Amino acid sequence: MLWVSAPAKVNLFLEITGQRADGYHDLRMLLQTISLWDRIGLMAIAGELEVVCNHPQVPTDESNLAVRAVRLLQQECPGRVGGVRLIIEKHIPVGGGLAGGSTNGAAVLWGLNQLWQLGLSPSQLHALALQLGSDVPFCLQGGTAIAKGRGEILTPVTNFPSCDLVIAQPRGVSVSTAWAYKTFRAQRLIHQKIADTELLWQGLLSASDPQAVSQYLYNDLERVVVAEIKAIAELRQQLLDLGCLGSLMSGSGACVFGICQSAEQAESIKARLPRDRVASWVVTTGYHTLCI
Ligand code: C5P
Repeated sequence: MLWVSAPAKVNLFLEITGQRADGYHDLRMLLQTISLWDRIGLMAIAGELEVVCNHPQVPTDESNLAVRAVRLLQQECPGRVGGVRLIIEKHIPVGGGLAGGSTNGAAVLWGLNQLWQLGLSPSQLHALALQLGSDVPFCLQGGTAIAKGRGEILTPVTNFPSCDLVIAQPRGVSVSTAWAYKTFRAQRLIHQKIADTELLWQGLLSASDPQAVSQYLYNDLERVVVAEIKAIAELRQQLLDLGCLGSLMSGSGACVFGICQSAEQAESIKARLPRDRVASWVVTTGYHTLCI
């Protein structure tokens, strides 16, 4: 059995810069891997595909990006990818805006390339990853990166300050990414700027500590999601009230994160969140490899 770790990400910055003819949006993002990951087990079997997952809400059919990654490789490398048993050990919240599905897809592409010695180059894997979804190429690469285009034009950022975060999700709340972008487009929000995003972007990229990072967080999708789902707006404010330096919704939600001064402060803020209404995690940012 080959085990691959599949880390989650947060968006420290997400700006919608254009509406594309293909229905997607052009973005400017700063993406950051965090220390919260699923584990993906891959084993060669005689049959075609067996999927086991410990999370009842995760589908094991073709709508799961890990399953689609197996199918994609079976199709792209005929005769070279045999049967696979896929074990998905889920720890990343589902529907949380932390790329939980995308990172599973990336881990399967990377893992099967090893398991079946397919010899796919990083750029070939990148192209396959984009066929699975806009966030999948970043999940293959990890670390801190500027992402443009649909999210696939990646530039690694080195020496970005590492931060301790509390991640929090209102229980029972998840958000459809497609709905969030569609609503943003329908409300024509791209034509109504609410912040000097250029100033924020430059500030974020030159931030040298968590305090500075906290001042320049930005997410355009908050404008539709936070307006619609009060629990997300309240949780984001609660993190600030409890002492976080800054807070933001990740991706299209429903998770929000708060930047803390230390891991100890993050633990104490997590302990003060109402457990019956909020699921929470303490994580650090930083690079985490796919290989266990
Ligand atoms: O690429 P992916 O399938 O992960 O995207 C999910 C949905 O998010 C898409 O159907 C699209 O509505 C929206 N999206 C977008 N522009 C992007 C990325 C995602 O409109 N750059």
